[in-house]
Amino acid sequence: MIGDAGNDVHVTITGLGAYAPERVITNDELAQMVETSDDWIVERTGIRERRIAADSQALSDISLPAAQQALAQAGIDGKDVDLLIVATVTPDMMFPSTSAILADLLGAKDAAAYDLSAGCTSFMYAIAQAYGMVAAGLSRRALVVGGDVLSRILDWTDRSTVVLFGDGAGAVLLEPVEKGGFLGFELGADGAGGKELLFPGSGSRLFENGGSRFLTMNGREVFKFATRVMVTSAEAVLEVSGKTVADIDVYVPHQANVRIIDHAARKLGIPEEKVVVNVDRYGNTSSGSIPLALADAGSDGRLKPGKLVLMTGMGAGLTWGSALIEWTDEGNGAPA
Ligand SMILES: CC(C)(COP(=O)(O)OP(=O)(O)OC[C@H]1O[C@@H](n2cnc3c(N)ncnc32)[C@H](O)[C@@H]1OP(=O)(O)O)[C@@H](O)C(=O)NCCC(=O)NCCS
Repeated sequence: MIGDAGNDVHVTITGLGAYAPERVITNDELAQMVETSDDWIVERTGIRERRIAADSQALSDISLPAAQQALAQAGIDGKDVDLLIVATVTPDMMFPSTSAILADLLGAKDAAAYDLSAGCTSFMYAIAQAYGMVAAGLSRRALVVGGDVLSRILDWTDRSTVVLFGDGAGAVLLEPVEKGGFLGFELGADGAGGKELLFPGSGSRLFENGGSRFLTMNGREVFKFATRVMVTSAEAVLEVSGKTVADIDVYVPHQANVRIIDHAARKLGIPEEKVVVNVDRYGNTSSGSIPLALADAGSDGRLKPGKLVLMTGMGAGLTWGSALIEWTDEGNGAPA
C-alpha cells in the first residue's frame, strides 16, 4: 500500500509523549542469566541496556503516561479524543482491547478504540490508519499509542532473543492542520516470511505441546529482510511524495539493531547526524520503538517546523512501513 497524502486536508502530529519503565537491565546483568557478554551484545547489536516493566505494569500502565504527555503537549483533554488506536503485539489481554482500557483511563469516553497488530511495524500501520481517518473527516483528534511489554513473552533462557528486546511506549496525537504534516506512506507485508519471527501458541492455531509460549526468531533471516526493506520502503515513500534523500532532515528508523540502522542510513545516503539512535538505551521496544525515538528527537530539539522527518519500521508478519512528515509548529515537538 502506497500513496502520497496529496488531498486538501493536511494532518499533522500535534502532541508527542513517551514512557519507559524505570527498571534498567544492563548487558552485564543479562550475562549473569544467559551465556553472553557485554562485548558480544554491543558489537552485534549496539544495545547497552534496556528497560523492563515491573510485574504490576501491563501495556496500558506504561502507555498511560506517554498518552497523557502527548495530550498535554497538544493542549487537549482526554475527553476530546475521538479515536484511540493502540499499536502492539502485547496487549494487556486479548480482550477487552488495551485501547478501550486506556480510553477509559484517559476519560476519552466516546472515542472509537481498538488495538492494531502488525509486529514491530504496528505503530507505522496505526499512524497511517489514523491519518486516513482524520483526512476523511471521520476523526478530528486521533491518539495513536505504540507500545509493547515484550519482556512478558521472552524466553529468559534464550540468549539469542533476550539480549535484543525491551519494554516501552510512545504516543502521538494527530489533528488536521492548514499546511504541512504527513506527505506519504508506504506499508507492506510478506506472510511467507512469517515463520522467521513468531509467537507460537499465542492464538487459535494449535501447536504440539501448546507452542513455545515465547517469541521465536530466526535472527539471520530477519536481519536480511530488515536490511532490505528499511531501504526499499524509505525509497518508495520518498518517491511517491516527490522528495529525495537530500530533503530528509531527521531519520527515525525502527530501533532493532544499530547495524541494521547503520546499513540503511549508509545505503540511503543519510548522514549520521540526521539519524536518531536510542537502541543503545532501550533495545528493541517493538511498537514503542519509533515513537520513543521520535520523542527523543523532540527532546533534543531536532523536530522543528518545516523539518522533513522520515520514519521506517519493520517486524513480524513480516511487515514494513514508512511515513514522511513535514513537522509543523502545532505542538512544540518536545515532550511536555
Ligand atoms: C540476532 C542478531 C543480533 C545475531 O547477530 P549475528 O551477527 O547474525 O549473529 P549470529 O546469529 O550469526 O550468531 C553468531 C554466533 O553468536 C552466538 N550468539 C547468539 N546470540 C548470542 C549472545 N546473546 N551472546 C553471545 N553469543 C551469541 C551464536 O550462537 C553464533 O555462534 P556460532 O557461530 O558458534 O553458531 C542479528 O541476526 C539480528 O539483529 N537479527 C535481526 C533481529 C531483529 O531485528 N529482530 C526484530 C525485528 S523487529
